[in-house]
Amino acid sequence: MNDRAIKKEIENAGNKEELRVIELRYLGRKQGRITLRLRKIKELPEGERKKEGAALNHLRGEIEEAIEKKRHALNQRSEIDFSGKHFDISLPPHHAKNGLPRSRGHLHPLTLMRREVETIFSSMGFAVVDGPLVETEYYNFDALNLPPNPPARDFWDTFWLQDPKRSGEKWSVPNEGRLKKALPTTHLLLRTHISPMQVRFMEKNNPPLRFISPGKVFRYEATDTSHDVEFMYVEGLMVDKNVSVAHMKYILFTFLQKLFSNKSMEMRLRPSYFPFVEPGFEVDMRLAESSKWLEILGAGMVHQQVFKNVGYIPKQWQGFAFGMGLDRLAMLKYKIPDIRLFHAHDIKFLEQF
Ligand code: FA5
Repeated sequence: MNDRAIKKEIENAGNKEELRVIELRYLGRKQGRITLRLRKIKELPEGERKKEGAALNHLRGEIEEAIEKKRHALNQRSEIDFSGKHFDISLPPHHAKNGLPRSRGHLHPLTLMRREVETIFSSMGFAVVDGPLVETEYYNFDALNLPPNPPARDFWDTFWLQDPKRSGEKWSVPNEGRLKKALPTTHLLLRTHISPMQVRFMEKNNPPLRFISPGKVFRYEATDTSHDVEFMYVEGLMVDKNVSVAHMKYILFTFLQKLFSNKSMEMRLRPSYFPFVEPGFEVDMRLAESSKWLEILGAGMVHQQVFKNVGYIPKQWQGFAFGMGLDRLAMLKYKIPDIRLFHAHDIKFLEQF
């Protein structure tokens, strides 16, 4: 056994697997050539044992050392790419290819906005809950004090999934809440707002409570720079014993200040009418005295009839609710001139975020 030949063999190993095969061939515990010869020493005549033992142990040491060296070299190699260039394994992937930036996907501005809104309201103790995109007429209208006659159904222009004017099939509302009476069978629609989540949530939870529910809403209306047929909306509700308009103003103002990190931001309330609140308000904001007021949300104190509809004892609880358009907030924050850009799939627009 020629130690130079063995060392050459080790040197030529192309990868760690080949090296392991060579290691086993010579040093393997059962069939390794050196191992077998070491085992046979005791069969040798007295005089030769010592010499052979010393030579084999020396050879074994050299092989072990050469294998260790080669293993180390192969480990180093795995961090070098095969084109011969070094690359830094700690760099993010878009830098990895030839050092050239590669474009990657990123979050849509409305998703960024939704996440920011969730973080701010969570920090004020509001839970974040999800609701269905397809609603029943009962939750979208009736339970919110919008009576079942055509003018009330026109409060928001609605995408009906079943035409309410033709009788068609109706949907029975599952009675999952505290109310044991049967709820009416109603038509299905794409939700026009997320106020139905007030009802769904209160049916299942006792006050005091605070939550927001963000998501898409749909309205069958003409589009312009500040109106779209689909937009992101956030509903909020807080119910407790002594909640007042002052609490509502404070929470909404704090939210807007945190969102815009702007001390000169102004907010104003205008009286308005929504059948499920009393009193009701339209809330506008502007970022500077020179800029225009933009309506961003509807709000008000929860109507006692809504508390009755969900089975709360009337007059025991007070609460405020609000519903805002996230697209409009994003337009103000990121200075976007037209709401329709959000869904225009224009890569130049999206790459600004
Ligand atoms: C409502 O939908 C009520 N549910 C809000 C509410 C909740 C009132 C709780 C009282 C208590 P409104 O239709 O005004 O309200 O819509 C709410 C917000 O959505 C508006 O202030 C506006 O910012 C935004 N919005 C309305 N229509 C559109 C549209 N077509 N495109 C984009 N944003 C819109």
